[in-house]
Amino acid sequence: MAKTGRPAVLGGDALFAEGLPLTRVKVPEREELARRLDGILTSGQLTDGATVRELEEAAAAQLDVPHVVAVSNCTSGLMLALQALGVSGAVAMPGFTFAATAHAAHWAGATPVFAEVDADTLTLDPVDAARLLAESGASALMATHVYGTPCRVEELAKVAEDAGVPIVYDAAHALGSRRAGTPVGGFGAAEVFSLSPTKVVVAGEGGLIATRDEELARACRLGRGYGNPGDYDCVFPGLNARMSELHAALALVSLRGLPERVATRSRLVALFADAVRGVPGLRLPALAEGDVSTWKDLTLIVEPAAFGLDVPALARALRAEGIDSRRYFHPPVHRQQAYAHLPARSLPITDDVSARVLTLPLWSHMDDATVRLLADAVIRIHEHAPEIASTD
Ligand SMILES: Cc1ncc(COP(=O)(O)O)c(C=O)c1O
Repeated sequence: MAKTGRPAVLGGDALFAEGLPLTRVKVPEREELARRLDGILTSGQLTDGATVRELEEAAAAQLDVPHVVAVSNCTSGLMLALQALGVSGAVAMPGFTFAATAHAAHWAGATPVFAEVDADTLTLDPVDAARLLAESGASALMATHVYGTPCRVEELAKVAEDAGVPIVYDAAHALGSRRAGTPVGGFGAAEVFSLSPTKVVVAGEGGLIATRDEELARACRLGRGYGNPGDYDCVFPGLNARMSELHAALALVSLRGLPERVATRSRLVALFADAVRGVPGLRLPALAEGDVSTWKDLTLIVEPAAFGLDVPALARALRAEGIDSRRYFHPPVHRQQAYAHLPARSLPITDDVSARVLTLPLWSHMDDATVRLLADAVIRIHEHAPEIASTD
């Protein structure tokens, strides 16, 4: 392990004096985007146009699913998919996810109930999901491909089938992930992706609902436009969750080269993992052999006793180096104020991992030198952990 000098939090020079943000968006096809935007503005059709349809077709081909419905964001996409499935009462989901998973169930008229995640992959634990479905009589199961790590979809399919409920995947992080060679997008009743600026494919703001179910796709298409079939005689209370043509143009160019970007991210994560291999008390979420993760996030799982610092202290030391970090996901959803009124279910694994995760900067065009320097920062913080801890 390299000796990397005195950490900035103890008075050394910051490794990233100009700052290292969590993510940096790069749109490679700027000229094509400008051409497309110009065409849209000239046509005067800013929504419900050919670009959204082109994006839906391109995404459906890439995901190998028959239907993709573009929406204003992943949260509204999840709401529409759940509404189309007619959820009511409880909807089961992991406590370790982004709040939007639970919010979508709430806005679709249901109540979230929370299950454990697997401590290695941080994705929904199928055994606890089965237990919760039986306990709660939930009308649907939701699962999140956390940071792009594919869920154990085969086991979850069996759990949902046994309980007689549909699965909706929160695939916000997972556009480009693969489970045993199959693209994430075709599992469950629907999978919903996010195209917000922190994702690997961006629209500015946007989402994609992918499904094999023609009826569900039709309901979501109707639902994204108020539930209005065209004659203003709305058939159910929908949303305005349309994606604009301008956002679709950005998403279309951003979708290009996705497999290559995902491969680059995997390589960068491997480079980082290799560089910190000698540091005790650090691991990354486990990825099953043959699976592909987008590595939407480079998230460390920290064992404070072995590393020498807990997550808040590590984050503070990184900040002194100029490095941005986030606690994705802390607090877990079942601990958030929004859901404090719900009956508590004990989730010790979720509580534990949630206290120990820290997401570091990563973007698809990050260079190797930056990854190595990021690793150096973590290494030197670990090497001075007792001194840093004593200044806390
Ligand atoms: C797991 C997860 N689900 C849903 C969302 C919401 O996505 P959007 O901002 O597109 O609504 C996010 C946002 O980052 C997320 O991380």
